[in-house]
Amino acid sequence: MNPIIDLRSDTVTRPSAGMRAAMAAAEVGDDVFGDDPTVNRLQEIAAERFGMDAGLFFPSGTQSNLAAVMAHCARGEEVIVGQEAHTYRYEAGGAAVLGSIQPQPIQNRSDGTLDLADVEAAIKPDDSHFAITRLLALENTIGGKVLQRGYMADAVALAKRRGLSTHLDGARIFNAAVKIGMPVKELCAGFDTVSVCLSKGLGTPAGTLLVGRKDMLARARRVRKMLGGTMRQVGILAAAGIYALEHNVDRLAQDHANAERLGKGLAALGLKVAPVQTNMVFASIPAESVPALKQHLQSHGVLALVSANLRLVTHLDVDAAAIDRAVAVFASFFQKAAAHAAD
Ligand SMILES: Cc1ncc(COP(=O)(O)O)c(C=O)c1O
Repeated sequence: MNPIIDLRSDTVTRPSAGMRAAMAAAEVGDDVFGDDPTVNRLQEIAAERFGMDAGLFFPSGTQSNLAAVMAHCARGEEVIVGQEAHTYRYEAGGAAVLGSIQPQPIQNRSDGTLDLADVEAAIKPDDSHFAITRLLALENTIGGKVLQRGYMADAVALAKRRGLSTHLDGARIFNAAVKIGMPVKELCAGFDTVSVCLSKGLGTPAGTLLVGRKDMLARARRVRKMLGGTMRQVGILAAAGIYALEHNVDRLAQDHANAERLGKGLAALGLKVAPVQTNMVFASIPAESVPALKQHLQSHGVLALVSANLRLVTHLDVDAAAIDRAVAVFASFFQKAAAHAAD
């Protein structure tokens, strides 16, 4: 029987044999004392790769984003952020709950960017009526879309001109960098902090790196402690991170090619598919088909989070043959539906 094809997210990957071997062989120590040589090495590699002062290893992207936002903003201060941004929408309001930080959401445009005129207009004047606008937070990729370097540079320039600091949720920044063929150092230049997930397209079981300015990372380290995110012999996970940075970055291009293949396959079935940029495919599904499609996919070994705006994600554990099998499963559903309609 064919194995399950899991297109729910790029977080579903299992560590490869090579990654597991690197984890098993990791030299470790108590990272709370700064004694874990593998964690230290990962943090140095990441800082170097991003051209930043330092790196700090976190258990998750949610915690890394939260620690960064809390490092930038004090109570009563404000972060300007996209309405669709993970930090605003999908992280349980952590900055507001735990940091007393006010989000100022701005509608994302269809390409994922924030209109910089809207950002500028949202910056509050220095007046006791208002929260103090402190931070601009962007996300790249966002919904699989790449923010180009020119836009990122303009956003950073605006923030600097208006005295704001900058944070990038770069959970999938390597997807963006590989797509546009630019080193992350160049793509992220000027940001004060960048959060980079290792457990998404890069395939580790856990772990996120926060890279950035030394003073910000010192503050983020304190917040990480407060959030219970310091770990001990965590070189076992850091070794997976080093392996991922060495082996799994350039190959993201294969995930992008597979996503394009999937998008084309679904479009050929008559579905409306948004242009594919990286490893995510979005297709419109007629609302009345959603429950039956969900069941059909499941019974044919394809896992997907089915909704009227279907999102499918490619990753290390799906190859082109799996994509073709998934397209065939979709085809059998929509052809059956068409045959019924013709009855
Ligand atoms: C863009 C983005 N940022 C941050 C996160 C949070 O990462 P984690 O699940 O490791 O907390 C995710 C998770 O899916 C994400 O997609």
